[in-house]
Amino acid sequence: MKATAKAHTNIALIKYWGKRDESFILPTNNSLSLTLDGFSTTTSVEFREDLSEDIFTLDDKRITGVEYDRVRSFLDLIRNLSDKTLYADVHSINDVPTAAGFASSASGFAALAGAATRAMGLQLSDYELSRITRQGSGSACRSIYGGFAEWQQGVKTDGSDSYAVPIAPVEHWDIRVAAVVLSADMKKVSSREGMRRTVDTSAFFQSWVDSIPNDLEQIKQGIQERDFEKVGQIAEANCLRMHATTLGANPPFTYWADTTMTVMQAVQSLREGGISAYFTIDAGPNVKVLYLPENEEKIKTALMHVPGVTDVILSRAGQGISYK
Ligand code: ADP
Ligand code: DP6
Ligand code: CO
Repeated sequence: MKATAKAHTNIALIKYWGKRDESFILPTNNSLSLTLDGFSTTTSVEFREDLSEDIFTLDDKRITGVEYDRVRSFLDLIRNLSDKTLYADVHSINDVPTAAGFASSASGFAALAGAATRAMGLQLSDYELSRITRQGSGSACRSIYGGFAEWQQGVKTDGSDSYAVPIAPVEHWDIRVAAVVLSADMKKVSSREGMRRTVDTSAFFQSWVDSIPNDLEQIKQGIQERDFEKVGQIAEANCLRMHATTLGANPPFTYWADTTMTVMQAVQSLREGGISAYFTIDAGPNVKVLYLPENEEKIKTALMHVPGVTDVILSRAGQGISYK
């Protein structure tokens, strides 16, 4: 009863920002992402008769507290599905900074879901796996697939129609992402808490939700046509609109640091100089820059020279979940 799975993080081009149901993790809008091969989690799960509780080890450290509780509750879901009561020994390695806005919860829960369901001997379709993964961390349901994926929010109250579907595989388009590292510190406001505060209090939340259908339609067209300008413009505007909702919350907050703005301006300067690039930012200060392969060298050099930038990690589109 042991299995190992590897999953990559994904970067949302149309953001998931808001839950309509916290316990099932049901979103207020569809979202769309690109899976990244540069960041991943590898997780092994073994269900054992001799354990009296779950054990969670992350990067060789025994985890307790809320991070442990999140994993335990997720394993409870899988125990319920299988009608078995065994506890698990979970070992996970993050090849991504944890809780710093690099989507460790996405690769983390996708890898955990894959390994735990396999270890339990469950045979799930990709949709079924995505649906259960969603309940660990919303963004994780998109990491089951390689390339572009869309999380369909669904309409049902039990979440049975809320899961991600593939939009275009890795081979469809060699679009790349530079992850600009400013800070690998843990963030102060988790995605979960930030979203909750936004839904409950932000004056701008409803207009955010209303803006999604048009963004989605446009970006899907852009992806099909491999229209980089179109995809980049929509992704950047969608990111800015998401971050605007946090400024309208009570108390207001932002994930940006001063260098976040500097990097955004550097991307705009690149464009003014004729090099096509667009940024997007998740719930953290670090910026991801979309670009095409022919501009890789120029993009990397320009970003590395921005004061306050500590690293630039280049990534291609990544594959979906895999098993060892
Ligand atoms: P991020 O931007 O890294 O996704 P979040 O606040 O969304 O930040 O989620 C971070 C949380 O995800 C961690 O505090 C932890 O609870 C969980 N997490 C991260 N990596 C793993 C992993 N490999 N296995 C299980 N849970 C993980
Ligand atoms: C800004 O999936 O980390 O990265 O569902 O509470 O675990 P939980 O939140 P999470 O939120 C991700 C928010 C985002 C946008 C996105 O990835 O779509
Ligand atoms: Co996350």
